[in-house]
Amino acid sequence: MSISKKPYKGCRDLFPELKRAQDFMFDQMKKAAHAFGFEPYDGPMLEEVDLYRAKSGQELINDQIYSFTDRGEREVAIRPEMTPTVARMVAQVHREAPKPIRWYSIPNLMRYERPQRGRLREHWQFNVDLFGPESIYNEIEILQVITHLFNSFGANASHFEILFNNRQFIDFFFSKTLGLDESKSYDLYKLIDRAKKLPKEKFDEQLAAFNLELKNSELFNEYLTLKSIEEFKTFSEKISFPKENWDLSGFLSAGDAAGLSKYLVFDPTIVRGLDYYTGLVFEVFDKHPDNRRALCGGGAYAGLMKIFNEEQLPGVGFGLGDVTLKDFLESHGLLPDFSHGNNVLFLGTEDESCELEVLNLANAIRSRDISVINSPSKLKFKKLLQQASKSGSRFLGIIQKETNKVKIKNLNTNDQNIFELSNIKEIITELNK
Ligand code: HAM
Repeated sequence: MSISKKPYKGCRDLFPELKRAQDFMFDQMKKAAHAFGFEPYDGPMLEEVDLYRAKSGQELINDQIYSFTDRGEREVAIRPEMTPTVARMVAQVHREAPKPIRWYSIPNLMRYERPQRGRLREHWQFNVDLFGPESIYNEIEILQVITHLFNSFGANASHFEILFNNRQFIDFFFSKTLGLDESKSYDLYKLIDRAKKLPKEKFDEQLAAFNLELKNSELFNEYLTLKSIEEFKTFSEKISFPKENWDLSGFLSAGDAAGLSKYLVFDPTIVRGLDYYTGLVFEVFDKHPDNRRALCGGGAYAGLMKIFNEEQLPGVGFGLGDVTLKDFLESHGLLPDFSHGNNVLFLGTEDESCELEVLNLANAIRSRDISVINSPSKLKFKKLLQQASKSGSRFLGIIQKETNKVKIKNLNTNDQNIFELSNIKEIITELNK
């Protein structure tokens, strides 16, 4: 039997070129989180299934989770998302911790999905969450981390938008206006969540199964056509939605002051598939016509601490996938070229018996924090140049045995200079140019 060389379905082998691009995205993510004072955390890869059963929702539990029974008869799952883990960790320490708690992580997650563009079985997800007394300023800060990150890649409001809605509003609309019980409300949530993916006839067919009265069915369809914050405001007045349930004006003014207005768009179909959200819900959408998809999703969740019998500590946060982010950056030409490595000096020689000089100089340069790939056996100049360029090195150094010198060629400008082997100071200055 021969074993396949391919990775498991929906997973990637991260060869160096892909890993370089991923590391670049991770670095930008870390910088964005640190710019707002978020601290890194991590958790275990396996969790008990009950953790997700409590609040993550049926789709995750029934269709997406990788679970098994361990040797101790515990039902465990590979983490399909990070929010239950971070809530579990915060529940252990929040009494002593100064608030708000600002944490971030970049875990890899597994979901049993049908692999397609933007959707795999394994992905890495940048999670940024803030725990503290409920406040629109926390929501705004979380959205700012997102725009800060996207801006750091050179993306602006012509590239992406933040579609938002609020679960308080939808809960009110479904239960008080449409008169749906909890289970019907839940099903209607799920239908709206699928609205963008379902063909119109399929959507209407599934909506018909709710047997809404004609008046309510018209109201529901009117809701789905709301296109702007102004239209939303008029609609919410029409159904007498209590303003105190969602301080939309406060949210928009704070968003304006924080420079978010150009990104924020009200979207009635944003409800989010996960059950724990209780307030603001949002998705970052790519505006590129070939890549109209959610890049990132999140929202406010007030009740997750209750599953650990802890007092309320509201959270708000988001998850941004590496697969969707990379597709986004590529679609807009914002991903730098990672086809080559990022080494400083490729050091070799064309001379016989020069190995020790190569090892010696490489060692001295590395101790000054400059990366060196060494090639101690003698090679022809053409071969050295070829290998140096392939390795992505910025300089090629060639040691000349007879003169005890090294010729350093800048591979970007083709300038070259010769240095005494003992003159480390000048060699370092050259390599730092
Ligand atoms: P989510 O919407 O399930 O939310 O995932 C967030 C993002 O992760 C998606 O918008 C997408 O970029 C990426 N993603 C999810 N599943 C896949 C997949 N199968 N393949 C590739 N990318 C994927 C959550 O997971 C929430 N826990 C986020 C959150 C954090 N909410 C509050 N804090």
